[in-house]
Amino acid sequence: MADGGASQLVGKSGGIVIPDDWPGYPLQLFSYPEHYSPEDLECVYIPHGIIMDRIERLACTIMDDLGDHDIVLLCVLKGGYQFCSDLVEFIKALNRTSEKSLPMRVAFIRLHSYLNDQSTEDLQIVGAEDLSTLRGKNILIVEGIVDTGKTMKALMKHIEVFQPKMVKVTGLLVKRIPSGMETLPDYVGFEIPNRFVVGYALDYNEYFRDLSHICVISDTGKKKYKI
Ligand code: HPA
Ligand code: MG
Repeated sequence: MADGGASQLVGKSGGIVIPDDWPGYPLQLFSYPEHYSPEDLECVYIPHGIIMDRIERLACTIMDDLGDHDIVLLCVLKGGYQFCSDLVEFIKALNRTSEKSLPMRVAFIRLHSYLNDQSTEDLQIVGAEDLSTLRGKNILIVEGIVDTGKTMKALMKHIEVFQPKMVKVTGLLVKRIPSGMETLPDYVGFEIPNRFVVGYALDYNEYFRDLSHICVISDTGKKKYKI
């Protein structure tokens, strides 16, 4: 193959495929906060630098597709805050330098669906600003991770009520899960195996959001921070 097989790394979602047998990097090769112990984490799955490079590219694609429309980035808290913040920074940089521009507003919605590493039954919206302001707007939902797709589907249904003009979704991570998702986000950073990951604002019972890299939590880590 002319590309040396690299095209296998592009998934049907358009995201970078992290294969099932990807071992990650040993934690001790990177810096991480002293308050987490190496036993809590199995590996660095996606280093911070690669996350940033991928988001820079997503920002370009979003600009190409949606440039010259007004958009509202709807950040799904809490797991999406870091992705949303970095995405906004890259779009701002493009707005300063490219011919197209993308006027942006940012709105927030807070959802709750996980306890330990298990998805709870239903989507709970635990906080949001007045979503009626989304009427007639072009919305880009910004999610840190999409796994079963249930949350995304329920959120889309919830937002449709406010009659936006257009709704697109970007997910930094999408999990490959057998029961799979019928609809994938429009802009995907990485497709990952079905493992519980933390860091870059993704949590396990509120821990690990303050880790820059995306890491796999170990069984020891899960036990230590279980509630
Ligand atoms: N990590 C953190 N939060 C999540 C995950 C995950 O792997 N999947 C769904 N929410
Ligand atoms: Mg969570």
